[in-house]
Amino acid sequence: EKGGYDYFMLKEIAEQPKAVADTLLGRIDAAGSLTLDEVRISASELREVDKVVIVACGTAFHAGLIAKYAIEHWTRIPCEVELASEFRYRDPILGPRSLVIAISQSGETMDTLMALRHAREQGSKVLAICNTNGSTIPRESDAVLYTHAGPEVAVASTKAFLTQLVACYLVALYLGQVRGTKWGDEISAVIRDLSHISGEVERVLETMEPVRALARSLAGKNTVLFLGRHVGYPVALEGALKLKELAYMHAEGFAAGELKHGPIALIEEDLPVVVVVPSPRGRSVIHDKIVSNIQEIRARGARTIVIAEEGDEAVVPYADHLIRIPATPTLLQPLVATVPLQVFACELATARGNEVDQPRNLAKSVTVE
Ligand code: M6R
Repeated sequence: EKGGYDYFMLKEIAEQPKAVADTLLGRIDAAGSLTLDEVRISASELREVDKVVIVACGTAFHAGLIAKYAIEHWTRIPCEVELASEFRYRDPILGPRSLVIAISQSGETMDTLMALRHAREQGSKVLAICNTNGSTIPRESDAVLYTHAGPEVAVASTKAFLTQLVACYLVALYLGQVRGTKWGDEISAVIRDLSHISGEVERVLETMEPVRALARSLAGKNTVLFLGRHVGYPVALEGALKLKELAYMHAEGFAAGELKHGPIALIEEDLPVVVVVPSPRGRSVIHDKIVSNIQEIRARGARTIVIAEEGDEAVVPYADHLIRIPATPTLLQPLVATVPLQVFACELATARGNEVDQPRNLAKSVTVE
């Protein structure tokens, strides 16, 4: 049932192009407009939404952090993202015009379930993004958008994450569409880019051998840092989480702009630092800033592992290891940038002799608070 792979995680990483394509399937019609028939909240209710609040845990929380950038950019609706375990304990401000999005692969995560119950008690509508048909979270929600990743067995979430991102983009575009935001042209461009993205994920998977070799060479290290900016920041957090849970290494993700506010003190000779570089096109200011961050940490001895778009030559002089990803629009970059980090963590765990599918102390579905 592992389909010839040594671990479910490897199989699930390999299934990502299909998972992404399946999650998009049937949701964009021939005219390029979005029809999400599983979203049973009326268009007029969606037009009234004045705030989106995303609640989730772990990897699903990272998907939510990325969704915030897309939702706010495409719809101009304010969006908050909160760890489900923190949410209801701080008396959040919610009302009938708040749309709460609960993201969960299993649909059984107790923290997320309790957060959504709290939101419904306040009169808010809840939309679940979930991978498990008929599980508790979608059953208790007002609407559901299922991710079509297929069953995810490995404790470390991979294909569910990519499909959660796709689902979040669809929700953001859908909100933009029903509200008739001024981003009409941009929406059709994004829909076009999304329809090619599964092929780009496939291309990334075909070039992972050097990432595996690099991971094996770092098996004796104690710490790896991850830096990113804009949507690359949650990608850095996700890369660090994968490494913690699989390789049992100290791994931390930082927003690159925060370096000088503290974390740069951690940089020492030969410390591996993974940097997720945004596209040089579009948001070139951020790109240039991150290139100087790479220079700064390298000058202090860090071993820089740079994930950058094909054709981005500015990073070349400062990258001890360069991992290329296909050029994508900035907001969609996490779909391709996360894949090398999954492969990296999986290979490091294997090299350290860890149990990849069942890391110590963890359960696939956390049904206690
Ligand atoms: O089933 P859920 O998506 O609600 O699970 C949330 C987290 O427990 C989960 O993403 C966890 O962080 C993974 N082990 C990460 O790989």
